[in-house]
Amino acid sequence: MSKIPPHIVDEIMQTSKIEEVIGEFVQLKRAGSNLKGLSPFTDEKTPSFVVSPAKQIFKCFSTGKGGTAVTFLMEKEHYSYPEALKWLADKYNIAIPEDQAPTPEQLAAYSEKESLYIINEFAKNHFAENLMHSDEGLNIGLSYFEERGFRRDIIEKFQLGYCLNTGDNFYKAAIEKGYKLDYLEKIGLVKSKENRHFDFFKGRVMFPIHSISGRVLGFGGRTLLTDKKIAKYFNSPESPIYNKSEILYGLFFAKNDVIKYDNCYLCEGYTDVISMYQAGIQNVVSSSGTSLTKEQIKLIRRYTQNITILFDGDAAGIKASFRGIDLILEEGMNVKVVLFPDGEDPDSFSKRSSTAELDEYLKNHTQDFISFKSDILLKDSNNDPIKKAGLIRDIVQSVALIPDQIMRTVYTQQLAERFELDEQILVAELIKYRRNTIARQNDASELLDLTVIKEPTKNVDLAAVNPLQQEKIVLEDEYELIRILIKYGTYLIKVEQLDESGKKIEVETSVIELIHHELDKDELNFSFPIHAKVYAIIIEGLEQKTLYSSSYLIRMEDQEIVRFVTEIESDSHELSSKWVSSYNISTRTELDRLQETVTQALYRFKALKVESFINDIRTQLETNSQLSQEELMDLLAQQMAYEKIKMIFAEKLGRTILR
Ligand code: CTP
Ligand code: MN
Repeated sequence: MSKIPPHIVDEIMQTSKIEEVIGEFVQLKRAGSNLKGLSPFTDEKTPSFVVSPAKQIFKCFSTGKGGTAVTFLMEKEHYSYPEALKWLADKYNIAIPEDQAPTPEQLAAYSEKESLYIINEFAKNHFAENLMHSDEGLNIGLSYFEERGFRRDIIEKFQLGYCLNTGDNFYKAAIEKGYKLDYLEKIGLVKSKENRHFDFFKGRVMFPIHSISGRVLGFGGRTLLTDKKIAKYFNSPESPIYNKSEILYGLFFAKNDVIKYDNCYLCEGYTDVISMYQAGIQNVVSSSGTSLTKEQIKLIRRYTQNITILFDGDAAGIKASFRGIDLILEEGMNVKVVLFPDGEDPDSFSKRSSTAELDEYLKNHTQDFISFKSDILLKDSNNDPIKKAGLIRDIVQSVALIPDQIMRTVYTQQLAERFELDEQILVAELIKYRRNTIARQNDASELLDLTVIKEPTKNVDLAAVNPLQQEKIVLEDEYELIRILIKYGTYLIKVEQLDESGKKIEVETSVIELIHHELDKDELNFSFPIHAKVYAIIIEGLEQKTLYSSSYLIRMEDQEIVRFVTEIESDSHELSSKWVSSYNISTRTELDRLQETVTQALYRFKALKVESFINDIRTQLETNSQLSQEELMDLLAQQMAYEKIKMIFAEKLGRTILR
């Protein structure tokens, strides 16, 4: 789909009514000025899903999701941004200008892909037909599945099939149907040797592999022979429509329950998925024998933040799985682990258990990754202190990969408890690791100020506070300023200025302009990526002489921004009716004292930055023994200057006059 022109996007956003859009999915009831209903994202019994017609946003208090009508469609229906807009345009009869005609190359590529989909669809039906309606299929294929305990409805649901052993049964049927040999080979269904053509999957039971929308992308074919020399599975080769690393077996069938239970079980093979599904656990997918990729994790992340990996009892592959755990953590997702009893895999275990027993087992044996990893590694260490230290370091390195600070803190605390260690030591190790590796890799900016701050910005004795809590304090002061910028940016406030003759005059300016002026003159910026991103957009607006309000930001394509702004808009529980009264009071005071609010936030922010500059200098003074006399004097002078500013701020933070 091509890009929708901005004026059409505006029209769509202005015409759409969030209460009508969500009303098509959720039963909403009035609750004061808002509407309330049961969250479509969880299984809740009491409504915590709130829609504000006035603000045109929704907020789900049980999952934390929130945003505009577009966000809702993206979350609920898993549309892309343009797809969600298109849905709204259809609903409100807004015409989107036709896409430009595709180029001949695009057309050719498109029709090849389209052809491959059609052939796979044909093959899937052909193999299913073989399974159910040919003697060989019934006697060999179907009886194999039945012996394994697969129910008929499940065989049909997963569209399982059988490829006859005759050698070219499928090839002939496909050619007769008019499909090009070239495509049949490209998609891996037919192999050719000189002038002989034969079915790649002959004599195998067939597992179609579906895209998330249910199209058949490829196949896995299992042999029925027990000969160890024959590969148990053949799989479709990579093709223009089949990219192994971006596909998860079973996701098409699992996605609704993944959303519903906000968790995705991940196992190894086709049969694990099918058996678990049959046993009633339907939020299950498999990476089909390959090691987990980033793309596969991102696929799951479209539906949930939580992955639970299921391991066989024998688990030669357990240590190899550590890499998968790290990858999931790195993507900012939560990872848990279930270990099956010795000699059992999800397939065998679910076959001999009732749904309730399986459920019970999963519930009681779900471990977080720290206890899982430590259990495994501890077994190997035989209480050797050196090995034990190595294993703790290993786990800290995993924790260091987690992008979210609060999560990191929680895990660090847990690790400290488990090994009866001083949390400070782990934190130091963690920071060292994050600074050394991750900072260099990508988001150095996130860490820039965080790891060096050692002193209070508020009246807190930071010497007594651990570094992770310091990160939180930094976050709060930054958040406060960006919150004010988003919420009150377009409001006007009075400030004092000196005119040409040096006389104090009072002028009116917008909060955005004031904050920009103040940060710009001191060359300051936000450290946290999302804060910096929003700030950059607001400044871009300013350069075009436009003041962006939250209602502009909330319409942007970038859903990270939409979510962040919604968070701020619905912060202080404004949308939750039980808080309305108490919140209104505080809003009013905040607005009444806007000038003071802005000023305080600015000083806090600046004090914070100055603090970090001072600490930078101190660190240099302490750690750099190679400094020349000149450099040393220079640093000391800077330090003095900053200390002076710090004192001025400290004074101002007590008062409220802006100069
Ligand atoms: N696999 C593969 N090629 C092989 C063996 C395995 O592609 N030669 C992939 C398949 O996707 C398989 C997964 O790895 O589903 C897990 O392998 P395994 O546990 O051996 O197979 P199962 O699916 O459990 O099959 P079965 O229960 O019939 O042995
Ligand atoms: Mn198996």
